[in-house]
Amino acid sequence: MNAVLNRMTPSITTMIRMDHTHVLALSHRYTADTALAKKRALVTNACIALQVHAQLEEEIFYPALRLVLEGDEVLDKSEPEHQQMRELIGELRERSKTDESIDEVFDEKFMQLMRIVIHHVADEETRLLPAAERLLRDELGRLGAEMTQRRIELMKPYAREIATSTARSFPVGTATGAALVTAGALAIGAMFLSRGRNGHGTGEWRKKDLSNRGSSKLM
Ligand SMILES: [Fe+2]
Ligand SMILES: [Fe+2]
Repeated sequence: MNAVLNRMTPSITTMIRMDHTHVLALSHRYTADTALAKKRALVTNACIALQVHAQLEEEIFYPALRLVLEGDEVLDKSEPEHQQMRELIGELRERSKTDESIDEVFDEKFMQLMRIVIHHVADEETRLLPAAERLLRDELGRLGAEMTQRRIELMKPYAREIATSTARSFPVGTATGAALVTAGALAIGAMFLSRGRNGHGTGEWRKKDLSNRGSSKLM
């Protein structure tokens, strides 16, 4: 499984950029007059993608970067910014349970979330990813494979929600085209998720690595 992942998954920095692109593409489809069901699908998809992405960065990317980049102000504020996102995600997920709560306040909360995300993504893409590509050059592939494997675990509880919200978030014909391109990293996770269900799961990886990591603060 690890050999397959190493060959098939992008580097960790490419995967992080793909995740960012996916969330931004979802937000670009959300306008004030978007139909209610589509707003719910877009927000659900974006919130799950952000939850999984933030946890992957905190477990794999940031710790690797901290080993070679000490005292970086952007790196230091990354996790507090994730926490701000989590608070808004929690409110949005709660409000999206009923049609009545998908209102102007919901719109504003999603835009507030995206304002934080856009600033955060700008910092990561102009500071942290280039730093990783300079300082962790030989590690990027291995970290990418590790991230994909962990993604499979994190996506399992959301597999159905992701499938449904992706289908409703993108037009017919692009749900399996553009959506899979923009959600490339998520798609790779989904592909391996089905393998995991068939008994080629990630148990060994979890035993080896999770003992050294804090449990999820998010899920
Ligand atoms: Fe990120
Ligand atoms: Fe981040």
